[in-house]
Amino acid sequence: VGTSTRDGSGTPGAGAPEGCAVVLDGLRRLEYRGYDSAGIAVLDADGGLAVRKRAGKLANLVGLLEAEALPPSTTAIGHTRWATHGGPTDANAHPHVDAAGRLAVIHNGIVENFAALKAELVADGVPFTSETDTEVVAHLLAAAHERTKDLTEAMLEVCRRLEGAFTLLAVHADQPGTIVGARRNSPLVVGLGEGANYLGSDVAAFIAHTREAMELGQDQVVTITADDVAVRGFDGEPTTGRRFHVDWDAAAAEKGGFPSFMAKEIHDQPQAVADTLLGRTDATGRLVLDEMKLDESVLRSIDKIVVVACGTAAYAGQVAKYAVEHWCRIPCEVELAHEFRYRDPVVDQNTLVVAISQSGETMDTIMAVRHAREQGARVLAICNTNGSTIPRESDAALYTHAGPEIAVASTKAFLAQITACYLLGLYLAQLRGNKFADEVGDVLAQLHEMPAKVQEVLDRLEEVRALARSMADTRSVLFLGRHVGFPVAMEGALKLKELAYIHAEGFAAGELKHGPIALVEEGQPVFVVVPSPRGRDSLHAKIVSNIQEIRARGARTIAIAEDGDEAVEPYADTVLRVPQSSTLLSPLLSVVPLQVFACELATAKGLDVDQPRNLAKSVTVE
Ligand code: AGP
Repeated sequence: VGTSTRDGSGTPGAGAPEGCAVVLDGLRRLEYRGYDSAGIAVLDADGGLAVRKRAGKLANLVGLLEAEALPPSTTAIGHTRWATHGGPTDANAHPHVDAAGRLAVIHNGIVENFAALKAELVADGVPFTSETDTEVVAHLLAAAHERTKDLTEAMLEVCRRLEGAFTLLAVHADQPGTIVGARRNSPLVVGLGEGANYLGSDVAAFIAHTREAMELGQDQVVTITADDVAVRGFDGEPTTGRRFHVDWDAAAAEKGGFPSFMAKEIHDQPQAVADTLLGRTDATGRLVLDEMKLDESVLRSIDKIVVVACGTAAYAGQVAKYAVEHWCRIPCEVELAHEFRYRDPVVDQNTLVVAISQSGETMDTIMAVRHAREQGARVLAICNTNGSTIPRESDAALYTHAGPEIAVASTKAFLAQITACYLLGLYLAQLRGNKFADEVGDVLAQLHEMPAKVQEVLDRLEEVRALARSMADTRSVLFLGRHVGFPVAMEGALKLKELAYIHAEGFAAGELKHGPIALVEEGQPVFVVVPSPRGRDSLHAKIVSNIQEIRARGARTIAIAEDGDEAVEPYADTVLRVPQSSTLLSPLLSVVPLQVFACELATAKGLDVDQPRNLAKSVTVE
C-alpha cells in the first residue's frame, strides 16, 4: 500500500490525508492476506526517511507507532507480510532500507534469482540485515539511484535484472512526494484520487478514498505524485494501464468482489498453484528444493514415506501416494494424524514422515509430528503458514504459497498442497535417479500448464452452479472415484458435508458392489470422477461400467469428465467437463467443480459458507 497526497501548500497539514493513517487503514483492509509482520516507511517534510516495522500482526505495529510516532508525512508506503524467504521477524519485515537509510522498498512475490544477486552485492561489500529476497532489491535500487539520480530510472534498471514475480513500491528521501511501483505477475492497482494518488495490491487498500482505479499491466513501472500518474513499460516506453471504476463497497472489496472468501479463494486457485511452483527450478530446468534443508544423503536413504494429516490435507496426501509411488518407487502410506499418534507405527530413521497442514497449527498433526520424531523418523512439513508450529517442529519444510486462506473450507490450500506433493515426488525421482528420472522434465512442464487449465475450469462454471441451485433440497449425495479420483471423491463429499450440512459419502468406485450400492435408489444423485480415457487402459472402462451399474438402479449420474471423452455421454445425466491432463495431475482440475457445487448449494440454502457451523479454521485442540 502506498499513498502520495498534498494539501493546498503541498505539505502535510489540515485537510491533507495523513500518509501514515491512510496506509495503516489500507493495511487493515488487506491484513487477512498476510499477517506475520507489518511495517511502514514515510518521507517527512525535511527530506528524511523514517521506518517502523514489527513481527506479528498489524496490532503490534500499531503499538510500536503509539510508542514511537512517525513524523507527519504525505508520502508513505506500508506492507503486511506472508513470509516466503526468511522467518517472520522484525528484521525480515518490510520495508527494507538501503545501507544509507535513504531508500525504502516493499515487495510482494519472490525474486527467483535473488541468491545470485545477493552474492554479487555481498562481494561488493554491501551489508545485509535480513534473510529476505527483498533486501537485494533495496540495495540494487540504491546503487542505480546513485547513478541515475532518479527513482523511476533506477526501478526500470533493476526490474530488468529481476526474475520471478514481484510487485515493488519504493520511495527515496531525495524525491519527496514520489512513489515508484513496478509490477510483474503479482497485482498492482493505482487509486486515482483528487489531490492524492494511491497504490495497492488490491483496490481494497484505497477504496475508502477513491473508487477510480487503474490496473497496471505486466512489466510496467508506475510513478505517482499527489497530482500525477505516469506509467512506463520495463523497456522504458511510456504506456498506460486499464482504468476502471470500482463499484464494490469496502467489505466486498476485501473479497475481491466475490460474495464470500470461499468463492474468492476458489478463484485464487490458478495463482496458488502457480505461486507454489514458482522459483523451484534452476536455469537448466532441474528442480531445486533447497529451502527444504534436508540433506540429499538423507533423502537418498529413505525407504518409506508416511503422510500424516487431517481432513482435506489428508486427501492431498492420498493424491500424493499415487504420484510418489509411481514416480519414486518408494512405498507411501497415508494416515490420519490422530490415528497415527495413538498407535505403534513402524517408522525409523529411514522413514520420511510428511506432515501436511495449511495452518501448521492442527493439534492432531503436531502430535503426530512429535510421535514420529520420537521414533527417529525425519519429518518434512508441507505447510502454508511460515513460522507456524508444524514446520518449526519438523526437520524440514516445503511451503505452499497459496496465501492466507480465510474460509473454513479449504480450497486453494488443497490445490497448493497437491502441487507441493508433486514437487516432492518429482524431486525425489530426480535425486535418486530411478528409471522415471528422465521423465521429470516432461511432468514439470505439464505441471506448469496446470494453472491455466484450472483457470479454464473456473471459466466454465455456470452449469455446475445451476445444477447446485437446482439441488438445494437434496438430502444425500454420493461421490465415486478410482485411483486419484478416489481422494477427489472424498474431498467432494467433505466439502458438501461441511458447507451444506448434507449427508454425503465418497467411495472408491470399485467398492460399490461390496456394500454401498445398496444406498442407490431412484433419483439418488451420484457424482462420478471419471479418469482420462487416455490413461491406464482399464481404469476408464471400469468407471464407465460403474456409472452404468448405478444408473440401472435409478441413480441420477453426474460425471466429471475430460474434454473429448464421449464414452461417458450415454450414461451420465450431466457431464461437467474439465480440460485434458495426465491422470496423476487431474485432481487439480476435477476437484474444482465439486468445490463450486458445495459452495453454490450452501449459498442457495442461505448458509454462511465462510464460517460453517461447529467448525474452526484451525483445529488447535485434540
Ligand atoms: C477442510 O475444508 C477443513 N476445514 C479441514 O478438513 C482441514 O483441512 C483440516 O482441519 C486440516 O487443517 P490444516 O491443513 O490446517 O492442518
